[in-house]
Amino acid sequence: MSDYFTALDIDTITSLPLTLLGDPILRQLAQTVADPTASDIKILADAMVGTMMAANGVGLAAPQVGVSARLFVYWVPKERGNISQDVAPTIIINPEIVPLSQEQEHDWEGCLSIPNLQGLVPRYRHIGWQGYGLDGKIMAGEAKDFQARVMQHELDHLDGVVYLDRMTNLLSLGFVDVIKARS
Ligand code: NI
Repeated sequence: MSDYFTALDIDTITSLPLTLLGDPILRQLAQTVADPTASDIKILADAMVGTMMAANGVGLAAPQVGVSARLFVYWVPKERGNISQDVAPTIIINPEIVPLSQEQEHDWEGCLSIPNLQGLVPRYRHIGWQGYGLDGKIMAGEAKDFQARVMQHELDHLDGVVYLDRMTNLLSLGFVDVIKARS
């Protein structure tokens, strides 16, 4: 599996450098993970969780740390998700998502690979998801609203798609600080 990591010595890194928009890896289809239980996948996933938390993000996909592999990490702070308990940092390998309702909602999104900007993005409000854990077992569930949004955003990264591509009107795009100051 070491072909995933040609450019990184991830044994020695806990917070990985982020790829930014313009890096071709963010526009490529990421490779399926052949063995979710491989030790280097666990090392990568742990480092991605550390990187996400250090960057105050709620999700991070492997291409955002320069690795073409179909996995992402995410979590939901209770105040962001408007839920009673945090959804703890979770790793999903080879994820798939299907909408469970056609209903979509516009809300603000940003991206660690597109710093300082945010825009309104339509996403399905209710999804079903499945993927593999680090133990190689299949996991599946449903997600709504903020969690569903984060998961759709991260899955898009594995298909070379960024939130800007999903915006239906670029007029809402702006710098986070400017938008905050106006609201
Ligand atoms: Ni992103």
